[in-house]
Amino acid sequence: MKQKLEEILKNGLCEIEKVSDLKSLDEVRVTYLGKAGVLTQILRGMRDVPAEERREIGSLANSVREQIEKKLSEKWANLENEKLLADMEKEKVDITEPSKGVKRGALHPLTRFNNKFMEMCVEMGFTVIQTPEIETDYNNFEALNVPKNHPARDMQDSLYITENILLRTHTSPAQVRAMHMFKPPFKIVCPGRVYRNDDDSSHSPIFNQFEALVIDENVSLKDFMTMVKEMAVRLYGKDVKMRVRPAYFPFTEPSIEIDATCQMCGGKGCSLCKGTGFSEFFGGGIVNPRILEMAGIDSNKYSGFAFGPGIDRSVMVTNKIPNIKYLFRNDLRFLKQMR
Ligand code: PHE
Repeated sequence: MKQKLEEILKNGLCEIEKVSDLKSLDEVRVTYLGKAGVLTQILRGMRDVPAEERREIGSLANSVREQIEKKLSEKWANLENEKLLADMEKEKVDITEPSKGVKRGALHPLTRFNNKFMEMCVEMGFTVIQTPEIETDYNNFEALNVPKNHPARDMQDSLYITENILLRTHTSPAQVRAMHMFKPPFKIVCPGRVYRNDDDSSHSPIFNQFEALVIDENVSLKDFMTMVKEMAVRLYGKDVKMRVRPAYFPFTEPSIEIDATCQMCGGKGCSLCKGTGFSEFFGGGIVNPRILEMAGIDSNKYSGFAFGPGIDRSVMVTNKIPNIKYLFRNDLRFLKQMR
């Protein structure tokens, strides 16, 4: 029995030594220590050993088991370590490989133009305000000298929510709100979305405008033109040319439409400017004294000018965008080209 145990120990340690992978090592463990293992069977057979030998054989069997267990766990740790090193070798990270690059976001072209225009206005002393996109019929029309049933309402196809509430058709209600918010003299500019029931390749039911309003003593058309010229130069460069056409708005008198050098062709003439070399810059004029009076401002003391450029057209021209809808679809394929 003693001899048998010593043999088991020798063979066991030897087999463990020879093994070179975790799976075979586990098989060796089962052969010796498993339920039907060699050593297990011996320990189970202890009751057949004569009583006087039982103690000695028992402790020898236990020691054999312990030695085999110890050897097994040492070998297990070694093999695991080797496997880890081998895996690390296989999965080496190549730190010289060029990176895939970080994708950077960018501002929407409308936002970029908006920011540029706002910065310019702030530099020129304007206060930037924002007023609601859902307006009263009074602020959108009546306070701007467009009473109910006035034919000028036909100029703007309105989207009504109730009889007296609508989506603002222009940013001009900001004029009305500003006249109630500030005491003259003041200069405000209000950027924002406006809504009209209009839909083709150059018109969208949603588009963007600015409203600029300057109220002070002795403001004249000449002051207006000087400021407009300054803005055109800052936006389009000092070679920009301008021309003025008479226009009609119920809230300005006189009203003018100002064109500036076409930014698509640089003034040479193209399909966009229909060969004229000019494209529409914006409409505006001297604030109709009736508007001031309706807002409680003394029109004998104060006068002013207002103008409201649409910005979508300018963004389309400067970025060569053929259809206004691209500005609102949020299609990444389009936006990525606009960076
Ligand atoms: N609100 C006008 C429009 O949408 C533009 C405008 C603004 C005209 C300010 C005069 C003064 O067409």
